Amino acid sequence: MDNAPIGVFDSGLGGLTVARAIIDKLPDERIVYLGDTAHTPYGPRPIAEIRELALAGLDELASRGVKMLVIACNTATAAALSDARERYWIHARIPVIEVVTPAARAAVVATRNRRIGVIGTAATIQSEAYANALAAVPGLTVVQQACPRFVEFVEAGITTGTELERVARGYLAPLREAGIDTLILGCTHYPLLTGVIGRVMGEDVALVTSSETTANVTYNELVDRDLLHEPLLPGEQPHHEFLTTDGTETFARLARRFLGPEVADVREVPVDQEGVPA
Ligand code: DGL
Repeated sequence: MDNAPIGVFDSGLGGLTVARAIIDKLPDERIVYLGDTAHTPYGPRPIAEIRELALAGLDELASRGVKMLVIACNTATAAALSDARERYWIHARIPVIEVVTPAARAAVVATRNRRIGVIGTAATIQSEAYANALAAVPGLTVVQQACPRFVEFVEAGITTGTELERVARGYLAPLREAGIDTLILGCTHYPLLTGVIGRVMGEDVALVTSSETTANVTYNELVDRDLLHEPLLPGEQPHHEFLTTDGTETFARLARRFLGPEVADVREVPVDQEGVPA
């Protein structure tokens, strides 16, 4: 048993989809969520810069005594996973969970025609993180597409509408033409867009998100490492904390909409990311 919180990190609001799935699966656990809203979006930034930002955010969470770190961001996973594992797992024995492998595995299980699409930020697609994760499976065709504007829409709270649908049709056309039957939403912001993405792709294409699959991995790791929180008493609620690096008002409003009423305690933290432009 370990009553310390789980640290969940994202560049902004997208990781809330992973936090939601963890809260649903593990209702006794406490979450400390950090969204690096001062630097979102990460997707268009150079990989080295994303690594620096992600490690600064993860340092902040580690300094709060978390028992596990969840990198709830594909872009940060693609840029910083091995450094994070070295820094927190090898040196501090804090297990680090990521979002790419769980989604890749789920897609392999879901596909029937072995044609898998991947959408993500520019940095995630350039990093080939998904192509590499899927390379071990013979006979797959993997079609990748960066969708840079999707994160902008989500961070602005826009998840429906004609402009979003127009943009989505443009990004997703090559994937439709490629005849994929499974689409990995390789960005934790995208589960908030499953309405429009599902409408454009059609019902025959299975959408695979990192949130559900990553929550399963989190559950298994906590059980296997004997790190579960002790059961709460009837009526007791865990106290979750939500941290942002750039103001709390918009974050709190949108986070409540995307995650729910658990978003009560929202605070701004100054994370030392010197030299990186906001
Ligand atoms: N949520 C992040 C991801 O999963 C990306 C958002 C961004 O570009 O900052 O890739």
